[in-house]
Amino acid sequence: MAKEKTVFSCNECGGTSPKWLGKCPHCNAWNTLIESVAQSDAPAKNRFASLAKTAEVAVLSDIEASDVERTPTGHEELDRVLGGGMVEGGVVLIGGDPGIGKSTLLLQALDSLQRSGKNTLYVTGEESGAQVALRSRRLGLDHSQVRVLAEIQLEKILATLEAHRPDVAVIDSIQTVYSEQLTSAPGSVAQVRECAAHLTRAAKASGTAIVLVGHVTKEGALAGPRVLEHMVDTVLYFEGDTHSQFRLVRAIKNRFGAVNEIGVFAMTEKGLKGVSNPSAIFLSQHAEPVPGSCVMVTLEGTRPLLVEIQALVDSGGPSPRRLSVGLDKDRLAMLLAVLHRHAGVACMDQDVFINAVGGVRIGEPAADLAVMLSITSSLRGKPLPKGFIAFGEVGLAGEVRPAPRGQERLKEAAKLGFSVAVVPKANAPKKPIEGMTIHAVDRVEEAMNVVRGLG
Ligand code: TYD
Ligand code: MG
Repeated sequence: MAKEKTVFSCNECGGTSPKWLGKCPHCNAWNTLIESVAQSDAPAKNRFASLAKTAEVAVLSDIEASDVERTPTGHEELDRVLGGGMVEGGVVLIGGDPGIGKSTLLLQALDSLQRSGKNTLYVTGEESGAQVALRSRRLGLDHSQVRVLAEIQLEKILATLEAHRPDVAVIDSIQTVYSEQLTSAPGSVAQVRECAAHLTRAAKASGTAIVLVGHVTKEGALAGPRVLEHMVDTVLYFEGDTHSQFRLVRAIKNRFGAVNEIGVFAMTEKGLKGVSNPSAIFLSQHAEPVPGSCVMVTLEGTRPLLVEIQALVDSGGPSPRRLSVGLDKDRLAMLLAVLHRHAGVACMDQDVFINAVGGVRIGEPAADLAVMLSITSSLRGKPLPKGFIAFGEVGLAGEVRPAPRGQERLKEAAKLGFSVAVVPKANAPKKPIEGMTIHAVDRVEEAMNVVRGLG
């Protein structure tokens, strides 16, 4: 018998090579080639042909473009990240750590869609129908009419989609689905890519909105080739730590809406519940101000969130540690250097720990000023004043740069009872904000002086 031919395909771009290489010849990524079984060309050749429609070349302005119609899922926070709801023929990929609540949220969403008269299908490859039923009881979804199919073979799933024509279908998860056309195992690069491509085509052809659940690797990326993210219309990620009650769903790609929008949920006994006013959930409760704590206002998507940044500066050994949770570590090193050079605050022989409360991840540089102020507060052992907030990006030259939409941030803080703010000069409001004293600063040393004057 002839030896089975193997090819090596890239995890990142999906490109192939006949032999193993350290570096992918297509996208130059290192260590991404994985062996898989080569597929014979014969059946592969026309696999996509049946669905491909030929279209005439048309002038852009002549093409009828109606606004996409959205079907709200009945869960406001989910609709927010989806950009209003499910779109006909749209494909959504939703990723996240195991146990974070992907299956729970989607089952809840399907149930409310079904109750609003939509035809839904839940395809499960990870759990049996009985397990899904058990979960739905636990969620309190009595007499749910959601159709369930426990199946992992792509061709059967496609046939069911064709036969039932659901408005919305969930595939939980794409890594468990396999196609008969390929011999490689479910979850392999080739299978995931092939199955996602077919499901996407089926969605576009039939108008069914499909949600694919994707696993996340140890590194935090979606397992399977990155091309999966290119194929779909919307990519959502679940984040937040599984030990805390709150979960964030973030849109990182959306062809039908804004990206970086977040939805906030709380995991309860009866599944995930939307948190419609999340601005204060990432504050810890101190009766009196404590040293090393500074509240900042971050703007994720359209809503400002108040997040407490905590710092602990403690005398370290010969090689002091710098650790950050929820904030960028390199940025912390940079801020410590700026603090030393421009404000004369030295932490060279100190351990520095930084934490964003509640497992929230802050990517925006507007956290800089709050990080610096919490570090100096911890170093001096002096708390910041009661009701204090700060935000603003800090540059290497010691300048304080404005954060986008500063007014909104200040207004939200004022609404929650914060009364003193240190902000970049360009963010200073023209009209005073009631109940809030605002100190606008241009430079880091100025910010330090203001805070010293307040204490
Ligand atoms: P699940 O939705 O199965 O996660 P995923 O599909 O992302 O792997 O995760 C559910 C987790 O949430 C599980 O650890 C139990 C918990 N949970 C609740 O706290 N309340 C509930 O009502 C349900 C259904 C689950
Ligand atoms: Mg699951």
